[in-house]
Amino acid sequence: TLDISKLDFNGQRVLMRADFNVPLSGKQIADDTRIRATVPTIDLLRKGGAILILASHMGRCGSALPHCGQSSLAPVAAALKDILGDAFVGLAEDCIGDAVSARIGTMKPGQVLLLENTRFHKGDTQNDDAFAEALAKSTGAEVFIMDAFGVSHRNQASVTGITKFVPKSYPGPLVRKEVLCLARSIDVPKRPFVVVLGGAKVVDKLHIISILIDKADKLIIGGKMAFTFLKAKGVSVGDTEIEEAHRVEEALEMERKAAELHKELYLPIDQVVAEELEQGAQTKIPIISNGFHGGDIGPASQQLFADALADAGTIFWNGPLGKFEVPEFSKGTYAMAKAIAAATKRGAITIIGGGDSVSAVKAAGCAHEDFTHISTGGGASLELIEGNKMPGLRALTLGV
Ligand code: 3PG
Repeated sequence: TLDISKLDFNGQRVLMRADFNVPLSGKQIADDTRIRATVPTIDLLRKGGAILILASHMGRCGSALPHCGQSSLAPVAAALKDILGDAFVGLAEDCIGDAVSARIGTMKPGQVLLLENTRFHKGDTQNDDAFAEALAKSTGAEVFIMDAFGVSHRNQASVTGITKFVPKSYPGPLVRKEVLCLARSIDVPKRPFVVVLGGAKVVDKLHIISILIDKADKLIIGGKMAFTFLKAKGVSVGDTEIEEAHRVEEALEMERKAAELHKELYLPIDQVVAEELEQGAQTKIPIISNGFHGGDIGPASQQLFADALADAGTIFWNGPLGKFEVPEFSKGTYAMAKAIAAATKRGAITIIGGGDSVSAVKAAGCAHEDFTHISTGGGASLELIEGNKMPGLRALTLGV
């Protein structure tokens, strides 16, 4: 695929789609991995004399300020200012419109502007051509660089639709690096290949699990999504909220498929539970009774999962195993991070995918070097290993 470091962007208006959908704690950025991973591309373009316009979504809001104020990219703008200094000219009040055009008109080569959250317009997630065209026209972009690996599995206006309205569209270096690293590790994995899945977004992940059962040798399921499986098996989940409760049958079907294919599917065998999943909660480790919610996997599950990883040749982990941002519910996720770091040391290929998992490994005290690859994409890395053609990559002039 094309290496953009060989192209000349001097004096050109370059619109770059980044994934700045970073985890926030109030107005503070809880983990800036996605921002830092984009800096080499930003530097390459601005030092090459581009007039650089950055676009990103944040969260899943779908309506403009002030309703979606918590989804403003202002915290990201502050972080970019710290990193880029005077080259960063600020955050535009929107991503389309006359005011945006006027502001870009005053920019000099080498300067960088961040557009406000693209999802303040419903047209972004709806992949509406009118919105994509407005984004292209308002920015006057001559080139589009797609470097938002984390959103490359979405067919959305600022990811794919935009390529119809900008003369040239190329993959950025971060996207290239992610695709190469993931493909190299997962295409012909060193076996046993173990996939660890947690977190939420069960909606997106149930289908992915059914495909991963074919590819992986072992599947470990924890976090919020495990409750859909536990409920399907008739295990008591107390008052734990079950995402996609109507899909428990599908979870059961996946268990059957795993058994048929002689694949091992591991679910938690104990839970840390509390009446409220808040700091200071009283935790117990029983079968979950009514009035209680599950917040983390328990010690027996930690041991079960660590044993399942002991002989792994390749490990892919996406999604925390509990509500790890609350200390009482962090132990299972931290134990998993440490077990995977230990597997790297003994020669396994280890890949961490997804914003939440990346914050979790850092909070567990692990470093970048403790893993083979830390991906900036959660759902995107899952879909790539699933073997999907990624819409955000296919739309490019020279697709990946
Ligand atoms: C992510 O956090 O996985 C990406 O930013 C994509 O976000 P989305 O799932 O809301 O499209």
